[in-house]
Amino acid sequence: MKLPKKYKWIGAAFALGASALPATDRSDEQIVNADFKELVEEMTPLSGTNPAHWRVVWSGDTSTSATISWSTAENGKKHVVHYGTKNVGSDTEKYEFHAEAPKNGPYSITEKEAKDTKTAFFHHCPLTGLTPGTNYYFVLESDGKFSKPLYFKTAPKSGDFKLLTGGDSRSGIASRCLMNLRMAKEFSEKPEILALVHGGDYIVSGRSWRQWRSWLSNHELTTLSDGRVLPVIPTRGNHDGGPLFFEIFNLEKNRADLSFWHSIQVTDDVNIVTLDTNYSAKGAQEEWLEKQLSKLRPKSRWLLTNYHRPLYPAVKSPAGQTSVFVPLFEKYNVDLSLESDGHCIKRTVPIRDGKEDPTGIVYVGEGGLGVGQRTPKTDLWYLKGGYAGRGHHVMQLSFSKDALEVETIMLEGNTIDKVTLKPRSH
Ligand SMILES: [Fe+2]
Repeated sequence: MKLPKKYKWIGAAFALGASALPATDRSDEQIVNADFKELVEEMTPLSGTNPAHWRVVWSGDTSTSATISWSTAENGKKHVVHYGTKNVGSDTEKYEFHAEAPKNGPYSITEKEAKDTKTAFFHHCPLTGLTPGTNYYFVLESDGKFSKPLYFKTAPKSGDFKLLTGGDSRSGIASRCLMNLRMAKEFSEKPEILALVHGGDYIVSGRSWRQWRSWLSNHELTTLSDGRVLPVIPTRGNHDGGPLFFEIFNLEKNRADLSFWHSIQVTDDVNIVTLDTNYSAKGAQEEWLEKQLSKLRPKSRWLLTNYHRPLYPAVKSPAGQTSVFVPLFEKYNVDLSLESDGHCIKRTVPIRDGKEDPTGIVYVGEGGLGVGQRTPKTDLWYLKGGYAGRGHHVMQLSFSKDALEVETIMLEGNTIDKVTLKPRSH
């Protein structure tokens, strides 16, 4: 159609601008119908020493520490995070602190992939001694190339906040991108969201640099247009084998066999214990888990557990760790347990001693950050009175003194399930 001259500039602007719309400016319908190829093309290119793939990783005490990480295509010599609590934009000299990244190196790449793909280089800068509940503004610099101004917010010492949680972004890359837009939209509309607990299975093959490179690039879609970055709390899924998981999130392996579990203190009275369902529950992991739960329960208003393979699954059979983990969760009265891997939506009734019990533990999740969805077994006793369904989704956890709300938010933006937990008297 030939546009009248006076409308031509509007059409051109729309053609140029439509694909660059940030998630926050998109309607729910525009998120669902976004063209992922256009989205991917807009991500920061991995070339030279241009800082790309930025992420903020949370482990340990999230009110005072975080790791800022990024990638460059070339090795480079000097990698610096300019940061501080004042928003001084791209004027890096005005930032209060200038920290050189102490950990740099090449991402592992398989011999097969190396034949036609180049690896890239990671840069990790752990920050400690941060002020709780505070915006930290930063710019990344690698050999004179700069990122755009970015920021994240540390967790408060106490008070209300929200987290997003979900897993299984491993395949369905188009849907993964759309779910990243959905998360960005929620994050933008609710600034009290602090981070994403990713339940694992980021990509199909944990040893594939090419696949991780795609995930890292797609992750940029969760960064808001004002530069706010959504921190990630990592979990190892059964597809996350190999060294790249550790190289991407700057994680220390617990053992030589690449097992990984960690505790996250979000605030003084909210703790998340993340386990590894790729590794035997007995022995080292069981001992660590019991120590964590016995230490954290008395001081936690909300104590959560998180891991990849479900103990009360909606699709598959229970994880091999069930007979060890469940009795410990019940002994220490965990409040909520986050699960992934099944590729569906699930919320159980509260469970104790293998049956429904109002004092029991609710298990939620099963993974919907992009992967194709399966049909849950709705006739399972622990799902009757809970919820079972399918569809791309993320869960939102709203923590307050008197309640923990768990909402399942669909790609389309609607809430399909919601439950409110009350704190235990302990
Ligand atoms: Fe899985």
